[in-house]
Amino acid sequence: MLGRTDLEASTCWDFPTQADGHPRAGDASFNGVTPARCAGNLVRRYSRPGELVVDPMAGSGTIGDVARTLGRRAISFDLVPRRRDVLRADARAWPLPDETAALAVIDSPYSDNIAYGRDPRCLGRISCRDPRFYEEMRRVAAEARRVLVPGGILAWIIADEYRGGVYTPAGFRLLTVLSEAFEPIDTVVLVRHHDRSASPMWEHRARRFNFYLRGFKFVFILRKPVGESGG
Ligand SMILES: C[S@@+](CC[C@H](N)C(=O)[O-])C[C@H]1O[C@@H](n2cnc3c(N)ncnc32)[C@H](O)[C@@H]1O
Repeated sequence: MLGRTDLEASTCWDFPTQADGHPRAGDASFNGVTPARCAGNLVRRYSRPGELVVDPMAGSGTIGDVARTLGRRAISFDLVPRRRDVLRADARAWPLPDETAALAVIDSPYSDNIAYGRDPRCLGRISCRDPRFYEEMRRVAAEARRVLVPGGILAWIIADEYRGGVYTPAGFRLLTVLSEAFEPIDTVVLVRHHDRSASPMWEHRARRFNFYLRGFKFVFILRKPVGESGG
């Protein structure tokens, strides 16, 4: 690990582009795409070659692409598969047996701000102001706990929301839910770039009306307790 200068050492991760380091991972134009080096850091630290990495909300498939490049087995699924190698499944019912994965990486919807599809089961249709958002995410976390091996790692990427004059600390609310079933290992701040709100007009509005543009996402890293079965 000492010689691994490609691994982030601090809890602030700032990558210049989505594809940095992994030019063919995912689709940089996909709304809400995960930075490939974020996935790379998680896969390198929390799984070994040959182990299974799961991404149950795969979108454009960044996490599976990076995991395979690094010699891991990867299973990616999504309610709305956008590639042939992404399975169709609901993240609240993983098509996988118990205790088989070393790592699950989840970059979930943060609220109802992006339309990912028309399927009413899409979790991107529920506002993070609605307590139901956290109830459904709890069901996703329960599946992660069932499928991870004891000691396996859950990494969950999410942002807070500021909309219509209301700030919702979705990240801390989700971490409270995840901590019921997992042991928190650490929290990383993932710097956001190239968002639609990163424009002079929005920056002007943020100063004029005294609010902040979202500058980062959280990456919550948690461990499934050892010595307990899944479920
Ligand atoms: C932020 S995007 C994931 C981005 C992805 N990591 C990438 O790099 O492209 C969230 C994804 O969650 C999916 N999703 C929403 N509700 C879901 C559900 N109930 N089951 C599975 N996937 C769901 C959406 O279709 C969307 O693709």
